[in-house]
Amino acid sequence: MADAKKLFIKTYGCQMNVYDSERMAEAMGAEGYVLTEAVEEADMVLLNTCHIREKASEKLYSDLGRLKPLKAARPDLKIGVAGCVAQAEGEEIIRRMPLVDLVVGPQSYHRLPALAKAPGRSVDTEFPPEDKFDHLPERKALRGPTAFLTVQEGCDKFCAFCVVPYTRGAEVSRPVSRLMAEAEDLVARGVCEITLLGQNVNAYHGEGPDGPWSLARLIRNLARIEGLARIRYTTSHPNDMDEDLIAAHGEVTQLMPYLHLPVQSGSDRILKAMNRKHTADQYLRLVERIRAARPDILLSSDFIVGFPGETDQDFRQTLDLIRAVGFGAAFSFKYSSRPGTPAAERHPVDGDVADERLQLLQALITEQQRAAQMVMVGKEVTVLYEKSGRLPGQMVGKSDHLHAVHVRDSSGQVGDLVRVRIVGSAPNSLSGEPAIP
Ligand code: 5AD
Ligand code: SF4
Repeated sequence: MADAKKLFIKTYGCQMNVYDSERMAEAMGAEGYVLTEAVEEADMVLLNTCHIREKASEKLYSDLGRLKPLKAARPDLKIGVAGCVAQAEGEEIIRRMPLVDLVVGPQSYHRLPALAKAPGRSVDTEFPPEDKFDHLPERKALRGPTAFLTVQEGCDKFCAFCVVPYTRGAEVSRPVSRLMAEAEDLVARGVCEITLLGQNVNAYHGEGPDGPWSLARLIRNLARIEGLARIRYTTSHPNDMDEDLIAAHGEVTQLMPYLHLPVQSGSDRILKAMNRKHTADQYLRLVERIRAARPDILLSSDFIVGFPGETDQDFRQTLDLIRAVGFGAAFSFKYSSRPGTPAAERHPVDGDVADERLQLLQALITEQQRAAQMVMVGKEVTVLYEKSGRLPGQMVGKSDHLHAVHVRDSSGQVGDLVRVRIVGSAPNSLSGEPAIP
């Protein structure tokens, strides 16, 4: 393999991009490319981009700027842009950035090898009728005990701030048989934790042997795979949390007690303006039902502050909702106007006001996150080791509740599922020792 061509991929944004980057690496692997972590030695550079907020999009252009000297020194270097910025701004990228050779949208990744071979510059941002995953080569090498599995892509919800329905397209669920085969293959290669991915994962409705299956049914079936110790899924919409999925949290032992359930705001006025189609109270009642099924479940969420029209009172209601729920973690963002979305037409909130709200919200979330971690101190939890820690004799992994845990364990191996006694809590992780059986 000394003369194998080298591919460098940079992945921005969400976990689905991480999954897609792996698939693209495999597609190019079939063409003789091997992955490299050194951009200077690459024959091809792929930037798998994110369009969700302005800052994420801008990173593409600054990274392309940094690639200019490399391309100038080696004109045969192929530079490709994939992902959601490619989908949204494909033609503009080609126009503005002469160093880019190819642009490929998220639904066209199976065409990447052909695009890479094509002479000249090319753009493919179609939504072809065929399933891109059908054309990608079989998965081969594995890196660790955890894996992502995309079960659903796209979104039909059209939240007023969000580009996803435009960049990833309409909701499409992959068929059950494909997913079962892919999951079985992953487990056969040593994976023991699978995270099911979808922009609207709990709206999953893939074709099963007897008609469409829900996510709950898929999870119950995946739980039959011997050796699959843990199942997670993300990201869910509150309105698609059906009874069966809630019940599964109490019944399926492999389904981990952690749920990311974005609410965005605690103000009914703002939720309506966001086109979220539920109220704050409906969210709170949903949380009650989920906790009734699985009392120790840890909830996380996404919040946007400074959405157009958000008043101090609206913001206070968001803080009230956070206090009422008690989250284990959360992601919070200052509203970012995205071209083509309905909210982009509306009057923005003053930037300083939004910054201040973001700080207040993050302080409250940090408090709740610390409290949720402190509850774990003194308890025994199960940790799946994902890698060695920075200190000698240290392993790092995740607990069932998705806490990062540093464990002093000199005989630990990546892939071990270990009972660990938690002895301490740091800002973003726990520390522990193997429990004495
Ligand atoms: N501005 C700020 N945050 C956004 N998100 C999505 N679109 C925007 C936007 N225009 C956030 C939402 C979503 C998460 C993935 O990103 O909170 O749940
Ligand atoms: Fe975007 Fe999620 Fe709303 Fe879909 S449900 S439009 S992905 S925020």
